[in-house]
Amino acid sequence: MKTKIAVVGLGIGQAHLKYYSQIPEIEIVGAVDVNPDILKQVSEKFGVKTFSSVDELLKKTRPDGVSICTPPATHLKLTQTFAKRGIHILCEKPMAPEVSDCEKMIDVCERNDVFLMIGFKKRFSPTYRFLKENFEKDFGLPKWIFARFALGRVEKQWFWDEKDGGGPIVENTVHMIDLLHFLCGRVKTVYAEGGNLFMPSFAPQIDTAIFTLRFENDAIAGVGAGYASEWGFAKEQITFATEKVVCEVSGGFDNPRNIQYIYRNNPSVVGEKYFEQPDGFFEEIRHFADCIRNNVRPIVGGEEGLYALKICKAVKKSAIERKPVSVQGIS
Ligand SMILES: NC(=O)c1ccc[n+]([C@@H]2O[C@H](COP(=O)([O-])OP(=O)(O)OC[C@H]3O[C@@H](n4cnc5c(N)ncnc54)[C@H](O)[C@@H]3O)[C@@H](O)[C@H]2O)c1
Repeated sequence: MKTKIAVVGLGIGQAHLKYYSQIPEIEIVGAVDVNPDILKQVSEKFGVKTFSSVDELLKKTRPDGVSICTPPATHLKLTQTFAKRGIHILCEKPMAPEVSDCEKMIDVCERNDVFLMIGFKKRFSPTYRFLKENFEKDFGLPKWIFARFALGRVEKQWFWDEKDGGGPIVENTVHMIDLLHFLCGRVKTVYAEGGNLFMPSFAPQIDTAIFTLRFENDAIAGVGAGYASEWGFAKEQITFATEKVVCEVSGGFDNPRNIQYIYRNNPSVVGEKYFEQPDGFFEEIRHFADCIRNNVRPIVGGEEGLYALKICKAVKKSAIERKPVSVQGIS
């Protein structure tokens, strides 16, 4: 029997539909949006049943799992609705605007015994999987990390709203923060310089920041993020230095195709890896589908979503207060 999936919110939700439709074991039972024009487009493009509300969807069908792809302020309520009906959840990042929302999402999913996966696609990128494996097996853990992750212009109102997307640092940098948590471990303190440098119409929302992270294992990272680039030119570049190796990841934003690395004891030989499909999106979707099918907990869940949000909040707090902030103290 096929696994029945629904998608709610059809902006990036259309990428979810595209990837689900490539998995033979999946049956897409519904796509939901409040915008009738989008429903019409999606119905024509994907040939799936569309619904103008979640209530309508749930009256007609009972999915095994759902992708929640609406703006973050809606994630808590939708998670509660689906979890209480025993429907597994893949929720887009950022998990929610507030720490307390994330805690409620974790709680309702645990109480109803459903999976809550968060859409941190970078954890599924073959580029970063290569690094994760090699940091553990050969390279050693990074002690010094320097990342460039500046995005292009986004003008959606919800993206900038403190009570919704939380601006570029929460909505977008959360991807890099979760990646660094995944690769380098838990973060102790954050120090940020940031502000509203480029988008006065959304002031006082912080649009850009440069910040440092001190990890619990005493590794250090520097990150440049926010609206400091333009689409088409935006890059994703990270250098990781371990005791044994220095490696550099590079590529377009969200397309980290190249890795170059040297062993410190033989720096004239440069190792190279190239990844044709560096984006982890399809693998993320397939993982969720496999977890439902095999009743196995997803490798990235609510706890990671909550933790990444806390670090984003620490970055913003530090930029506002202009002093180091402990992640543990964020609530
Ligand atoms: N993983 C990624 O790479 C990635 C990329 C883009 C966006 N996102 C995340 O996905 C989420 C959505 O972002 P987006 O760019 O698609 O936003 P968007 O504004 O383009 O689309 C959101 C859609 O949700 C619909 N919607 C809003 N509330 C709804 C509700 N209650 N029920 C049904 N539909 C509703 C809107 O009509 C809209 O069509 C955000 O959390 C965002 O951060 C993730």
